Amino acid sequence: MNLEIDQQRLQSEIDDLAQITEGEPPAVTRIVFSSADLRARAWLAEKCQESGLTIRTDAVGNTFARWQGGNPVAPAVGTGSHVDAIPNAGKYDGVVGVLGGLEAIRTLQRAGFCPAHSIELLVFTSEEPTRFGVGCLGSRLLSGAMSAEAAAQLTGINGDPLDTVRRAAGFTGDLASVRLPANYYKAFVELHIEQGPILEQEKIPLGIVQKIAAPASARILVEGSGGHAGGVLMPDRKDALCAASELILAVESAACSTHAPDTVSTVGICEVFPGAVNSIPSRVRLSLDVRDTDLVRRDSVMQKIAEAINAIAARRAVAIRAELLNADAPADCSLLVTAALAESCRAHDFAFLPMVSRAYHDSLFMSHVAPTGMLFIPCRNGWSHRPDEYASLEDIARGTLILAETLARLSS
Ligand code: GLV
Ligand code: MN
Ligand code: MN
Repeated sequence: MNLEIDQQRLQSEIDDLAQITEGEPPAVTRIVFSSADLRARAWLAEKCQESGLTIRTDAVGNTFARWQGGNPVAPAVGTGSHVDAIPNAGKYDGVVGVLGGLEAIRTLQRAGFCPAHSIELLVFTSEEPTRFGVGCLGSRLLSGAMSAEAAAQLTGINGDPLDTVRRAAGFTGDLASVRLPANYYKAFVELHIEQGPILEQEKIPLGIVQKIAAPASARILVEGSGGHAGGVLMPDRKDALCAASELILAVESAACSTHAPDTVSTVGICEVFPGAVNSIPSRVRLSLDVRDTDLVRRDSVMQKIAEAINAIAARRAVAIRAELLNADAPADCSLLVTAALAESCRAHDFAFLPMVSRAYHDSLFMSHVAPTGMLFIPCRNGWSHRPDEYASLEDIARGTLILAETLARLSS
């Protein structure tokens, strides 16, 4: 089979999608169900229809674009990723898996390939946690890792309920119907930029993911006592920001204390109220993100942070409340998919590196319902979640070629 990626079209589609942003280009900001997200979905649906794919969306907005196989009742082979983007992001995170997935399907069509199993391109809703606090919202619901009842309780950053927002975006069905029936997919494979520096450093063009690290996240609210920056003397203060600062450093040292390179922790949001030069901070909202490939070690870090919260609250006489948003297990990739990826790399004479994904992906949850695997391509300096995120067309096309070959193997 002669597989030829249309590189120019793929690059121009990546560039065009990056123009649909609420950020100042080159920054891409596409928060789920924002006008940019909805415009990106419409743009993408048109591309899928032009390629003869049949589209359906579910009640949370996950999109499925199907290339019907010879045996339409056989389980499908899925591929895809997300097009929502955190504030001030780049143009490759998620997009390479979606547009690369579409180009892989078109490449197989051009080559005259006839799949026995249908091939389905998925565009997951809200892989990013920006709006509703939890990442992988769409795939959590697809896999049953999150119940419809729990999802209906979610509220966005402005207090707007998920249920209202998704309905306003046109996704009105019953959230319980999002869950996939058993054996819907024979396999799922996601192409993604590495979001780390290893492939580039090792000069290896492809990574085959063996395991996806376990993420946990929480919202933390620190409440102290405000007042006049001149009038309240130091012994009388209950400064919420000073307490939060101690806690941020405790989060860092909890991760460092494992001495394992796979343990990471981040406080990415620190909102100070009332935020005035001459007013003692009375309230601080923090975000917490902790990850590890080892679940027990990840949970031990969460426990250390909980102890730090209690100690700091008592010593500084402030109230600190943590609301756990998610604490997920790591995922092992399936041999069915990793072997198909490896065979495809060998068939095209490309070196590959077995690796761990430290970022989370919808594949973390797809692994609950289907044999799942991921293919990584390098990105410059390992940078991601920033506007200068970059992957070369050569690397993207190579990843897309191996994805096409793998989809062919899995769907035959
Ligand atoms: C996904 O964007 C992640 O934060 O790992
Ligand atoms: Mn991301
Ligand atoms: Mn991503």
